Amino acid sequence: MKKRILTGDRPTGKLHLGHYVGSLLQRVELQDEYEQFVIVADIQALTDNFDNPKKVQENVFELALDYMAVGIDPTKSTIFIQSQIPAIAELFIYFANFVSIEQLSHNPTIKTELAEKSQTKEAFKDSTPLGFYVYPVHQVADIMCVNADLVPVGEDQVPHVELTRDIVRKFNKMYKTDFFHEPKAKVTNLGRLPGTDGQGKMSKSIGNCIYLSDDSETVKAKVMKMYTDPSRIKATDPGKVEGNPVFIYHDAFNPNKSEVAELKERYTKGTVGDVEVKEKLFNALDEFLTPIRQKRTELEKKPDFVMDVLHEGTKKVRTISNEIVEKTRDIIGLRY
Ligand code: TRP
Repeated sequence: MKKRILTGDRPTGKLHLGHYVGSLLQRVELQDEYEQFVIVADIQALTDNFDNPKKVQENVFELALDYMAVGIDPTKSTIFIQSQIPAIAELFIYFANFVSIEQLSHNPTIKTELAEKSQTKEAFKDSTPLGFYVYPVHQVADIMCVNADLVPVGEDQVPHVELTRDIVRKFNKMYKTDFFHEPKAKVTNLGRLPGTDGQGKMSKSIGNCIYLSDDSETVKAKVMKMYTDPSRIKATDPGKVEGNPVFIYHDAFNPNKSEVAELKERYTKGTVGDVEVKEKLFNALDEFLTPIRQKRTELEKKPDFVMDVLHEGTKKVRTISNEIVEKTRDIIGLRY
């Protein structure tokens, strides 16, 4: 039997190149070797968007489009919707017994997110909604609702996979079972893609993203405005390649490695201008994005097909996860 993967995203917006490098590419590569489940985490998205459920609801479809456009193949991977799986809610409350509020308060991802949301979201200004605070435990239930072995995610999700391992270990020990697997995180070795502004991360709220669905003109405009080496003023100044977002993108998306090597050499010597480096990056990116964009447009015209994929995937996970919940009740001893 194939080992299982569970991974996914919050449906809060369209996916961008950072998602591609951080998680989507891995999912496409792993879907043959593993039985892969991809969760559209609408309940989790609601924890910081409960004032705007429409946004979450609309983005479920957009996320499914992005998934299929990049090559997550519904005949190989099961894409499903979190809110339609009752077992997740039940597993969540059993798992919640194995984690303390203090432990959650040290979760670095939660800390970062709360710091940002207290500045930007009304509901987070003076206090912390419990739904948001406990979402990592709910995510443990996502992962265990198919008893997954592997969780391919971006770096920021590693604390949540660690939490999963910790909870599973404690649960198994307490109830003298080995039923739940201790899943491993798989972080891409491509590293994190900085935003077009050179910031640590591509992020919708910062507005430094190139989306998979951006048209050519938009991509071109974003590339031409990208940050480069801030200390370089003229094209004849020797420039820095390391940490320069334009070259990080070249490395990630330009398949013509000799062109990239040559541009780097000239940049370091001060014999190439930013404009040429960026134009070549745009060409590479546009070549990469064109088939994705085309596939996405095709799928957009077949909403019934896209919804069918989600419904079928959800049905399959409902069956699997109900069996897991039944087994969990047996293990704990909830039988009357
Ligand atoms: N927290 C993830 C994110 O923000 C989304 C997610 C929800 C997830 N449930 C998951 C990721 C389970 C991996 C496994 O991107």
